[in-house]
Amino acid sequence: MEWAATTFALYGAGAAALATSMVTLGRRLELSQAKHRSLAGHARIARRLAAALPHYEYDEARFFSADGAPAEIVELRRAGFARLSDFYKTRFAETIRRSAEAAVAISDLQFTGTYRVPFQFSRLVRADLPTGALLQASDGVTVTDLDGNRFYDLAGSYGVNVFGYDFYKGAIERGAARVHGLGPVLGAYHPLIIENTELLKDISGLDQVSFHMSGTEAVMQAVRLARYHTRRRYAVRFCGAYHGWWGDVQPGIGNPLPARDTHTLADMSEETLHVLRTRRDIACVLVNPEQALHPNAPAPTDSALVDSTRWSRFDKDAYTQWLKRLREVCTERGIVLIFDEVFVGFRLAPGGAQDYFGVRADLVTYGKTLGGGLPIGVVCGRTGLMKRFRDDRPADICFARGTFNSHPYVMAAMNEFLHALRTPPMQALYENLDDTWNARARRLNERLADEGLPVEIANMSALWVVCYTRPSRYNWMLQYYLRAEGLALSWVGTARLIFSLNYTDADFDAVAERFVVAARAMERDGWWWHSPALTNKSIKRTIIKEMIARRLFAPRQLRAH
Ligand SMILES: Cc1ncc(COP(=O)(O)O)c(C=O)c1O
Repeated sequence: MEWAATTFALYGAGAAALATSMVTLGRRLELSQAKHRSLAGHARIARRLAAALPHYEYDEARFFSADGAPAEIVELRRAGFARLSDFYKTRFAETIRRSAEAAVAISDLQFTGTYRVPFQFSRLVRADLPTGALLQASDGVTVTDLDGNRFYDLAGSYGVNVFGYDFYKGAIERGAARVHGLGPVLGAYHPLIIENTELLKDISGLDQVSFHMSGTEAVMQAVRLARYHTRRRYAVRFCGAYHGWWGDVQPGIGNPLPARDTHTLADMSEETLHVLRTRRDIACVLVNPEQALHPNAPAPTDSALVDSTRWSRFDKDAYTQWLKRLREVCTERGIVLIFDEVFVGFRLAPGGAQDYFGVRADLVTYGKTLGGGLPIGVVCGRTGLMKRFRDDRPADICFARGTFNSHPYVMAAMNEFLHALRTPPMQALYENLDDTWNARARRLNERLADEGLPVEIANMSALWVVCYTRPSRYNWMLQYYLRAEGLALSWVGTARLIFSLNYTDADFDAVAERFVVAARAMERDGWWWHSPALTNKSIKRTIIKEMIARRLFAPRQLRAH
């Protein structure tokens, strides 16, 4: 009898364990189904593949014929490249010389200098088309290099520059004068912090504010607070979204360790909503509204521009609907919805992405332009989420400090920014903003199409991505033709053009004219040569073959056939 009971109990326990593991397995499966099928959606695999990717580079001959172009086209390219190289080395001589000297001991410059173009082409480009990284002045919508060349600024200081550099110069100068009496005293605050807090509460529609030194730190704190208050472990970020360089929000390439407490799920996906609706361990969902421009794809860079598959299209209605549904699920499940507005905040609308899309978050991070030209990260949130200690558990705290947070000079420049935001001239910049920039993009696209140039602009307001309409291995060359025409891009090249809102029609027309001239020159020099056999697929296949060959036996330098 006792035997039977024991056996029965064991069977019961076994069945229960099996049922539990089936449920766990089911949940795992659902999680996998909610991942985007691209490599960006599979952070671990992407990291592993990246680690296995061999380095190789093209020799001089293959550099110009990687797509199998005929000899006369190769000669055109060679001549165009030599002409451009001479131009760079003469026109930008001092800037290039001093930048090269500086790069010897500045690892950041070595990194950005290396990753401007696909790695197979990088060495020759660096040798013959060196890009200066030093500037001496800014004025209106232009910047000036050490040789005195003025460029239209399309780099936008990583998004900091919303109102034009002259505004930030003034904000810093006036701000510094206002806090000069206190100077760089830290720990205690300058009283300007009180007004900034009130203004930020008003903009965000949230109850409390914390000040940090960068967008990365603001995101760290928002996620930490969400985990602390929900007592749950996982943060969800969407495939491709950038949230700064903290390990937990950068689980893929770029981070030496896997992010074990982050799920990277597909953006705008039913499967993702299902996961959020059914799991109990998700603390927060992080949204970077910039992704509306290219859902599920990382912010592009020209170093990944190996073919013409770069894609971008902004559908405001579809993204708004998605955010609304996300909001509903998060509310239903007690998940903290975080809008990371570090990049797009104050760029799309004075009230930020919350206003622009008409959806409210529980926590919002801001940064970049909010500092009035100085370094900043801010978290705004509901009272219950911002508290960093528990009344009933004195040692259970959510720690976040930072020597330089709430620096008086930053508070003062921020105060200038927040006040300016409310003034009629600045409000006027936002009037019909999307219509203005959509019309500008359309005008340029029409000109490019009329001339048969294989380039197309996609935009979200004044944030632009250059896409390419004809399969090519050389699209990344456009950044060098643009620079030669006096258009300054950041190190990600044509992946991101960031216009400040003070661009007038005349400024823009000048940029558009130069853009077309640059694209024409690139076409004339043969880089966009095309044959029916050259497809994006065939390009990818060639590159994969090269990599396999390199891993198996080839020398570091691949020669022309
Ligand atoms: C959406 C978003 N979040 C966070 C960050 C990180 O900000 P920071 O570079 O100030 O650390 C960035 C920077 O580009 C960003 O675009």
